[in-house]
Amino acid sequence: MSKLLDIKHQIHSLIKEYHDEAFKEKAFVAGESSVPVSGKVFDHTELQYITDSALDAWFTTGKFNTEFEKKLAKYINVKSAITVNSGSSANLVAFATLTAKELGDKAIKPGDEVITVAASFPTTINPIVQFGAIPVFLDVDIPTYQIDITHLEKALSNKTKAVVVAHTLGNTFNLDAITAFCDKHNLWLLEDCCDALGAKYKGKHVGTFGDIATLSFYPAHHITMGEGGAVFMSNAKLKTIAESFRDWGRDCWCEPGKDNTCGKRFCQQLGDLPMGYDHKYIYSRIGYNLKITDMQAALGLAQLQKLDGFVATRKKNFDLLSKGLAKHAGKLILPKATENSEPSWFGFLLTVKDNAGITRNDLVQKLNDKKVATRLLFAGDLRKQPYFKNINYRVVGDLTNTDIIVNNTFWIGVTPMINEEMIAYVCHCFDEILA
Ligand SMILES: Cc1ncc(COP(=O)(O)O)c(C=O)c1O
Repeated sequence: MSKLLDIKHQIHSLIKEYHDEAFKEKAFVAGESSVPVSGKVFDHTELQYITDSALDAWFTTGKFNTEFEKKLAKYINVKSAITVNSGSSANLVAFATLTAKELGDKAIKPGDEVITVAASFPTTINPIVQFGAIPVFLDVDIPTYQIDITHLEKALSNKTKAVVVAHTLGNTFNLDAITAFCDKHNLWLLEDCCDALGAKYKGKHVGTFGDIATLSFYPAHHITMGEGGAVFMSNAKLKTIAESFRDWGRDCWCEPGKDNTCGKRFCQQLGDLPMGYDHKYIYSRIGYNLKITDMQAALGLAQLQKLDGFVATRKKNFDLLSKGLAKHAGKLILPKATENSEPSWFGFLLTVKDNAGITRNDLVQKLNDKKVATRLLFAGDLRKQPYFKNINYRVVGDLTNTDIIVNNTFWIGVTPMINEEMIAYVCHCFDEILA
């Protein structure tokens, strides 16, 4: 065995020893330990992978990232996945891609309309506004919390170019209806899958139905890189454009450390630059730099191996909560999977009924007092957020359910950090509070 390999083995066994000592599982004490909504789940493998990438001293995006992108694309069953530094960056890159001039008449331009929902995470919608397009808000359905398709046709105008919508909290939206609508009217479909890695509709992964899709690897999500995200698609042209937006807006598509992939590095004339200007330094769009480091990718690779187990535990926790809280159906609306879907649950959404004898805010406060953590459904209604005051948008139909979500809805965790003992405690807390 080489000296380096031998040292690496020693480091690995020390890391395991360190991990087992530093991150010992603590016994759950009802009422004292908190029941989280989300968080990172890892063991010594993640620490070993990150260390391996650090020992390579490559630091920027490299071989771990290439392997992660390939394995992620294979898992989802798409042609390409490219990593970015957050789910928000993923949405930015994905939307920017749909504005590229080489897409001709289909490119989204300032003043064009994009159908979406107001009960969203802000950075699903923000790129629409940042590129000068106009969000057109529809209501959502309760108890699936997904886009309500009733007024889709009414939302259409001669400026509509796309539907941009998330598979909220790991459930899926009605992909039959949305894809049929997009096909009929020649619209782009951007699926925000940040909450829904592993979710399927009619047996196919979400994100494979539309043109382009996004993921987040923030610790709250199904797998984590610390910070991270991905854009995925099967169309090669969209992949090249997305990569260019991620990588400074460059025209060249060489992988890091590679040269002259196009074979025309020094023999092209582009823009007003002189003939033969190095293709590595030619920019075809206003881009960003949203790449990740290889340490992040290494963490992602270790997590990807655990993904199926995470998804299964989330489902099990969801089912246990559904059973345990069923007796409160008179006071609480319990969440439901969309027809034909196999959700990859992100959280357990609850809506307090008007006749419950308790408000959402009081219930949430009481649960938090008992160390059961809660969250709201992200921004609730984006139109009501301070930053949305002077933003141009259109609403179709009334947003009655969105309004209910703002006032009556919250969610609790199904994260793999939660075990059966914790769920029994959570259900007991609901029994006490709602008695
Ligand atoms: C639906 C949705 N889209 C986008 C994001 C943004 O992801 P990130 O926090 O990685 O920027 C989130 C974050 O939770 C989200 O829930």
